[in-house]
Amino acid sequence: MNVPDIIIAVDGYSSTGKSTFAKLAAGRFGFLYLDSGAMYRGVTLHAMESGFAGASGSIDTAGLLASLDGVDLHFEADGLHIGKRLIEPLIRSLEVSSLVSPVAAIPEVRAWVDKRLHLFSEGGRVIMDGRDIGTTVFPNAELKIFMTADPMVRARRRFDEMVAKGESPSIDDVYKNLLERDRIDSTRETSPLTQAPDAFVLDNTDMTLHEEIVWLQGLIQGRFSILG
Ligand code: DC
Repeated sequence: MNVPDIIIAVDGYSSTGKSTFAKLAAGRFGFLYLDSGAMYRGVTLHAMESGFAGASGSIDTAGLLASLDGVDLHFEADGLHIGKRLIEPLIRSLEVSSLVSPVAAIPEVRAWVDKRLHLFSEGGRVIMDGRDIGTTVFPNAELKIFMTADPMVRARRRFDEMVAKGESPSIDDVYKNLLERDRIDSTRETSPLTQAPDAFVLDNTDMTLHEEIVWLQGLIQGRFSILG
């Protein structure tokens, strides 16, 4: 399929499989994949390691903001880096997951991340997943998708992922963490998670990844009048 240079925005709730879907779609249709949630996780890890965010949930916002311009957070082929250091496994821990929503609610952090996402996307065919890509970061994205699924199904997916990585969370904690993140993400003042009016909804509670990709292929073909 010959696809023009476009931006596809994939937004939605935590653990709806946005990253897996967007990554697979990127490979299948020749897009660059950018994970905006990883950027917020990277900022959170930096805040924790630099003493600007504590386990109690307290954040030294002024200290964090003053430090941001010295942080070289960027993507390489193997994932997100701070300078030369690959931070992928660390940013997926429960500690980072518990602190990331308050960090992502800070307007200046969002502006800092948005600026980088624009730089990373310049002049390309990009699929980017997050919470506010189709509403705030790229309101003119050519195609917008909003992903959702039943909360218990999402918690089970996140739980299975963590167990596969050798962690031993309780399903209750994972479920509570997920609902709390939904709440913070949807009610924060700056760029809350909302469905763009022109987004196509993908509820994958009962869908396989293959079915999701077939659904997207149909959308891309229809939207850009591509045959075959
Ligand atoms: O998709 P994720 O779970 O890796 O995202 C981590 C956190 O970052 C999540 O709590 C919401 C926040 N986020 C955001 O506020 N805006 C985005 N565009 C992407 C993620």
